[in-house]
Formats: sequence, structure tokens, C-alpha cells
Amino acid sequence: MPPNLCTVFVFLLATMAYGGGAIGVNWGTTASHPLPPTKVVELLKSNNVTKVKLLDADPGVLEALSGSNLDVTVGIPNALLRTLNSSKKAAESWVHDNVTRYVSNGGSGVKIEYVAVGDEPFLQTYGEQFHTFVIGAAMNIHIALARAKLESKVKVVVPCSFDSFLSESGHPSKGHFRPDLNRTMIELLTFLSKHSSPFFATISPFLSLHQNKNISLDFALFKANAKPHNDSRRTYKNSFDLSYDILVTALSTVGFPKMEIVVSQIGWPTDGAANATSSTAETFMKGLMEHLHSKSGTPLRPRDPPAETYIFSLLDEDQRSISTGNYERHWGVFTFDGQAKYHFDFIQGSKNLVDAQNVEYLPSKWCVVNNNKDLSNVTASSLEACSLADCTALSPGGSCSNISWPGNISYAFNSYYQQHNQSADSCNFGGLGLITTVDPSVDNCRFSVQLRTSLSDFLYPAYLSQWMTLLVTTILLSLTIFT
Ligand SMILES: *[C@@H]1O[C@H](CO)[C@@H](O)[C@H](O)[C@H]1NC(C)=O
Ligand SMILES: *[C@@H]1O[C@H](CO)[C@@H](O)[C@H](O)[C@H]1NC(C)=O
Ligand SMILES: *[C@@H]1O[C@H](CO)[C@@H](O)[C@H](O)[C@H]1NC(C)=O
Ligand SMILES: *[C@@H]1O[C@H](CO)[C@@H](O)[C@H](O)[C@H]1NC(C)=O
Ligand SMILES: *[C@@H]1O[C@H](CO)[C@@H](O)[C@H](O)[C@H]1NC(C)=O
Ligand SMILES: *[C@@H]1O[C@H](CO)[C@@H](O)[C@H](O)[C@H]1NC(C)=O
Ligand SMILES: *[C@@H]1O[C@H](CO)[C@@H](O)[C@H](O)[C@H]1NC(C)=O
Ligand SMILES: *[C@@H]1O[C@H](CO)[C@@H](O)[C@H](O)[C@H]1NC(C)=O
Ligand SMILES: *[C@@H]1O[C@H](CO)[C@@H](O)[C@H](O)[C@H]1NC(C)=O
Ligand SMILES: *[C@@H]1O[C@H](CO)[C@@H](O)[C@H](O)[C@H]1NC(C)=O
Ligand SMILES: *[C@@H]1O[C@H](CO)[C@@H](O)[C@H](O)[C@H]1NC(C)=O
Repeated sequence: MPPNLCTVFVFLLATMAYGGGAIGVNWGTTASHPLPPTKVVELLKSNNVTKVKLLDADPGVLEALSGSNLDVTVGIPNALLRTLNSSKKAAESWVHDNVTRYVSNGGSGVKIEYVAVGDEPFLQTYGEQFHTFVIGAAMNIHIALARAKLESKVKVVVPCSFDSFLSESGHPSKGHFRPDLNRTMIELLTFLSKHSSPFFATISPFLSLHQNKNISLDFALFKANAKPHNDSRRTYKNSFDLSYDILVTALSTVGFPKMEIVVSQIGWPTDGAANATSSTAETFMKGLMEHLHSKSGTPLRPRDPPAETYIFSLLDEDQRSISTGNYERHWGVFTFDGQAKYHFDFIQGSKNLVDAQNVEYLPSKWCVVNNNKDLSNVTASSLEACSLADCTALSPGGSCSNISWPGNISYAFNSYYQQHNQSADSCNFGGLGLITTVDPSVDNCRFSVQLRTSLSDFLYPAYLSQWMTLLVTTILLSLTIFT
């Protein structure tokens, strides 16, 4: 089949399979040892994912996506918003360096579909620090895209956090935007509708469950037996529909009742909090997929499901900020090393995911506490390890919350040791650490071995010794020749 026809065919197949809105996935890279981008692209392809949303514009990631035919959203970090608001020139450079360079590469380029301005800049915990820059930055990026003649291909969007819209009574008919965002939202919606861009918003039944006593676990998980919520004559059977319609009302209230909605983040974490487990995540994701496939829409937008839905997230990230909660590092459908956590797939929801293949790890070594030493001062060392490494699995409800002292100290030591590429001095802890080749994992509590990344290869004797051998041989040979 000629390539063009083939593309059309794949597109048709995809459209038929998805029915309503397309399903995509968020790919974040805030990890100490990220899975190599080429492996991640293979992982996406083998799972038939066709849309991917990045939270930045990492050159290695965009390089790996070149020629992949995936639809890509690139992101602008919040820290750049101030500059991009005040300088059209900075916006032009940004577009040139992070968009034009990749799309203009013909068939081997990256299919960039959206530029996401900011990473949830309106999250309440950020206060109002970004409010005044977001729209200006979005406008400047749009102008820069127009100058690069990419305006018709690449749309500008702003991902809005789950807490940008709310309803005090819990009734969707009383939904509105957070008062401090009132003016900014009207400016944003005016901008988006002028350029036919959709509204990107996070929906988070998991966070709703934690913040609202009226939401039951069954209601969040799409269970058929959940007690419905009534809003005058409308009946809500799940938390997703409730949040979605709160947003629909918020949009209508400020004059944009027809605004297209893209769910830019939705998912369920598997560790670091109560009810964050693989089995609840599986139930949630299957319920979500079934709901999206049914194309039933919501009470306020019947038969009109979200235009697109991006699962949050592809992989666990051990360096995400935990200021909002210890579950933040565990949103992945896959573990950090690309292994499926539960039964799920991105097309039907009910099949099996395909794991990442040929993943390279550091050697099978762990760092544990040396039980033969006086451990009276070990707490300080473990706290220090946890302040840098990832101890979120030890928190209440976490997968390692049940291991007793000093097993939990070993967990902290090992996490630090792995993050430091298993260097001997990172298992010292004032002489209290001990390197072992026996896997200390117990039940669900997994003591991980980190990934081997290209640079850490260099630390490892295999390569080093090969190079040294080559070097020494060369020197000896030349000595022989020249004498
Ligand atoms: C991906 O699509 C192919 C072809 O339609 C199918 O055979 C395969 O099972 C799908 N894989 C997954 C993980 O859905
Ligand atoms: C955003 O940029 C505009 C245009 O340069 C400028 O007038 C405005 O003061 C900037 N906003 C803030 C909050 O700095
Ligand atoms: C994008 O472009 C800007 C400006 O040229 C550059 O500083 C930045 O590192 C690039 N990457 C990201 C992720 O913003
Ligand atoms: C929770 O339900 C009670 C009783 O139905 C209601 O008064 C209250 O406003 C609701 N709160 C939220 C945040 O949904
Ligand atoms: C927000 O804007 C709407 C429409 O302009 C207005 O009715 C409402 O009172 C405003 N709310 C706040 C808190 O400013
Ligand atoms: C909600 O509405 C349904 C059907 O309209 C009704 O059967 C049910 O009793 C109502 N529930 C409450 C708590 O009002
Ligand atoms: C988590 O689930 C249990 C039931 O499995 C429930 O009792 C508990 O209240 C839930 N926790 C939260 C924060 O919703
Ligand atoms: C523990 O710390 C205290 C105070 O710093 C110190 O006096 C003591 O010798 C330490 N004990 C061990 C076993 O290292
Ligand atoms: C921890 O132990 C309690 C009691 O044995 C059990 O109910 C709970 O499921 C365990 N939690 C984990 C994360 O294994
Ligand atoms: C390990 O468990 C002990 C006893 O339950 C506790 O005091 C300590 O804070 C825990 N340490 C860590 C790093 O979780
Ligand atoms: C571990 O190795 C990677 C390169 O593979 C490097 O970027 C990173 O800084 C190293 N980490 C530490 C803590 O040394």
C-alpha cells in the first residue's frame, strides 16, 4: 500500500476504534532515571497509542518522536511564562527551537498538534503568580506560530487544573470558575474561541474523593451500585460526569456554553495514599474507558463526550513534587521501568498492556541497613536519605507502609543508593549501610533496582574496561611499532 493510503487506512481504523473522542496519554519525565525516549516511543506504539502530551519540550523526547506519526502536544514550563508574556522575541525563539525545528522536517518530523502554555498554571497552590502572564504568553506564542506559518497546524491551549472550577453545593448547575480566575478565564476563553482551540482541563475523581466527603469511592470508580447524586431533575451516576458538568456550567456562566472540552489529565495513582492501589486504579480506568466508549456524554452534554481524553500518566516519576501528596509519584499506568501495573489497554480498556521490552537495569544490588551495627542513631540517616530519594511508598496506605523497623530504614537507604547510580559511597550512612545481592523486597513492597541510563553506562566497568583495554593495546602496539 502506498504510504499515504496506509496512513489514511490507519487513521480510519483508529477513528472507528475510538468512536467518540480519541484517547491519548501524558508522558512526563520528572524521574531520576527516565526510561530512554526511544524505548518509550516503542512502548506507545506497541500499545497502539496515537496521541501523546508532553509537559515540556525535551529535545531527546522530540527527537525520539520524529517520524513516529503520533500526534504530539508540547508544553511550556510555568517558569518561562513571564518572559514569553513580555517578549515576542522570546516567544519566536521558543517556537523556532521547540516547534518549527521538529515539524518542518517533512514526513520524518514530529506531528505537533498543540502547544500547551504552562503546566496547570492556575493550580491553587501556586497562588496568583502566573495569572497575569498566561494569556499574554499564549498570544505571543500564537503570533510566533503564525509567523512560522504553522497557525493552521498547531493550536495554542492552556491546561487548567482540576481546582480551576468548582461548585460549593456539589451541584453541577451551580458550577463556576474560582473567583480569583474570573477575569483571566474570560480572557482565556475569548482567545481560545477566536482561534478555535479547545479548553484543556484536568478532571480528578481521585482528588475529589479526598477533598469532598460527599463523594464515595464507588461513585469515583464508576461502580453501578454507587449512590447517585441528584441535581434537580438530573441524576449523576459517577464523579467524572459531576466534575465535567461543573465545568460545562462554569463555561456557560461566562458566556461560552459551546466551548469544546479536552480532558488533558485524568487517572488514578497506585501508591502513597489510602485507596491508591493497582486494583482501584484498574477499576477506575476500566470504568472510564467504558464510559467514554458508550458515548453517552454527561447529563448537560448528552451524546457529546470530551473531544479527546489524555490519561495521566504513562509512567511513574520518582522526582515529581510531593507538595500536594505522596501519591504524586505513582500516577503511571506503567511503573518507572515500563511494566504494566494492571490489566488495561488504551483502546478497549479491558485487554492487556504490552510492557517495555529489553529494559536495561543497573546490577542486581541493593543497599540495606547493617543489623550488626548499633542502630540507635539510624533515624537521622534515613531522614536524610528520604529528603533526596523517594520514600513515598512508606507513607500511610503506601505499598511499604506495613514493613516494620528497620526494614523501612533499608527501604530509604536503597532508594538513595539507586538514585545515586549504586555508587559505593551512597550506601555508607556513617557505616550503617550494607550492599547486598539478595532482593529485600517483601510482598507488595518492592525494593527497586534503577535503570541503566546512557551516562551511567560510563560508570560501569564493562564499557570502561573495554575502552581501557583498547587504549592500552593501542599504546603498546604503537610502542612496539615505533621501537
Ligand atoms: C494494537 O493493534 C493491533 C492491530 O489492530 C492489535 O493486533 C493489537 O492487539 C493491539 N494491541 C493492543 C495492546 O491493543
Ligand atoms: C505582559 O506583557 C505585556 C506586554 O509586554 C506588558 O505590558 C505587561 O506588563 C506584562 N504583564 C506583566 C504582569 O508583567
Ligand atoms: C525551548 O526554547 C527555548 C528558547 O529558545 C529554550 O531556552 C528551551 O530550552 C527550549 N526547551 C524547552 C523545554 O523549553
Ligand atoms: C454535601 O452534601 C450535603 C448534603 O446533601 C450538602 O449540604 C453539601 O453542600 C454537600 N457538599 C459538597 C461539597 O458537595
Ligand atoms: C465573575 O464574573 C461573572 C460574569 O461576569 C460575574 O457574574 C460574577 O459576579 C464574577 N464573580 C466574581 C467573584 O468576581
Ligand atoms: C434521585 O433521583 C432519582 C431519579 O430521578 C430518584 O429515584 C432518587 O430517589 C433521587 N435521590 C435522591 C437522594 O433524591
Ligand atoms: C478509602 O477507602 C476506604 C474503603 O476501602 C474508606 O473507608 C476510606 O474512607 C477511603 N479513604 C478516602 C480518603 O476516601
Ligand atoms: C548517637 O548520637 C549521639 C549524639 O550525637 C552520640 O553521642 C552517640 O555517640 C551516637 N551513637 C552512636 C552509636 O553512634
Ligand atoms: C497492611 O496490613 C494491614 C493489616 O494486616 C492490611 O489490612 C493492609 O491491607 C496492609 N496494607 C498493605 C499496603 O499491604
Ligand atoms: C520506620 O519505622 C519507625 C517505627 O515505626 C518510625 O519511627 C520511623 O520514622 C520509620 N522511618 C521511616 C524512614 O519511615
Ligand atoms: C546517575 O547517572 C546519570 C547518568 O546516567 C547522571 O545524569 C546522574 O547525575 C547520576 N546521578 C547521581 C546522583 O550521581
